[in-house]
Amino acid sequence: MPEALSVTAPATSANLGPGFDVLAVALDLANEVRVLRRPGPLAVRVVGEGAGDVPEDATNLVCVALADGLGSLDGLEVECRNRIPFGRGLGSSAAAVCAGLVAANAIGGLRWSPADLLARAAALEGHADNAAACLEGGIVAVTPGPRAQRIATPRDLAFVTVVPSVRVSTDEARRALPERVPLADASDTLGCAVGLALALAEGRLDDLPDLLHDRLHEPYRAPLVPGIEAVRGLVDGDGCLGVTISGSGPSILVWTRVDAAAAVAERARDALRADGVQAEVTVARVAPAGVRARWTNVAPGRLERSIG
Ligand code: HSE
Repeated sequence: MPEALSVTAPATSANLGPGFDVLAVALDLANEVRVLRRPGPLAVRVVGEGAGDVPEDATNLVCVALADGLGSLDGLEVECRNRIPFGRGLGSSAAAVCAGLVAANAIGGLRWSPADLLARAAALEGHADNAAACLEGGIVAVTPGPRAQRIATPRDLAFVTVVPSVRVSTDEARRALPERVPLADASDTLGCAVGLALALAEGRLDDLPDLLHDRLHEPYRAPLVPGIEAVRGLVDGDGCLGVTISGSGPSILVWTRVDAAAAVAERARDALRADGVQAEVTVARVAPAGVRARWTNVAPGRLERSIG
């Protein structure tokens, strides 16, 4: 019976406010990629989020990453079952790249180390934060190398994700940033980032409202994020601990506690409705594990049929 490789890759939210290109968290929502070897040219199928927009050929990011390790993609069938919203700042491209690299590593017997995988993912992505959280799971800081350093996750931390109906590409959101920032903005943000890492590691959620502030990217990107001011109005230091732009946006990450998450989500829905903003509002938790791959047996013709 032929074997298929099944890879799950979690959504991620990068920057976490003051940690531009450095901090990120893996969330409990994942894409699944299945790769089967069989004779014939490459076949790709995308179902779920982004179907119709995500390419079904060698330019699909999963395939680009597979080719980075395997070279030729002839003889592969690739099926992407996507759940991560596409083009919304929740790491859909990092999930595709990391899934493709991990699949190439397993299929090609390449023996890439975790550091090799991160370096390759960062090269394909252009930044390492989403990929580090996707590969490692949990909350991570990217230090030079690039190297992913895990930060302990407070047990009662939860999030509410706000995903607007519009898409913004990372390229567009990076073009909105200035080439230089005032020293005072850099210093203030650095203090918040270090404080945030320490507060998370020590489980001090009460300190987050003072630390989830950024002056390096959020002021320039806020105009691209529908409803950001309405959602920021929810921060009360009690149920709602802070509001950050998720990656390059336009999604928003609302920081909260497990027992307050449902109420905060409801308040976010009300605030967005009053602001006339259409968005999906969902409670999310930290995913403790990153990308996972496993071989599964496939009944003859089964995956081929599902790919069509
Ligand atoms: N750190 C990257 C950025 C994340 O803010 O552009 C993109 O998701």
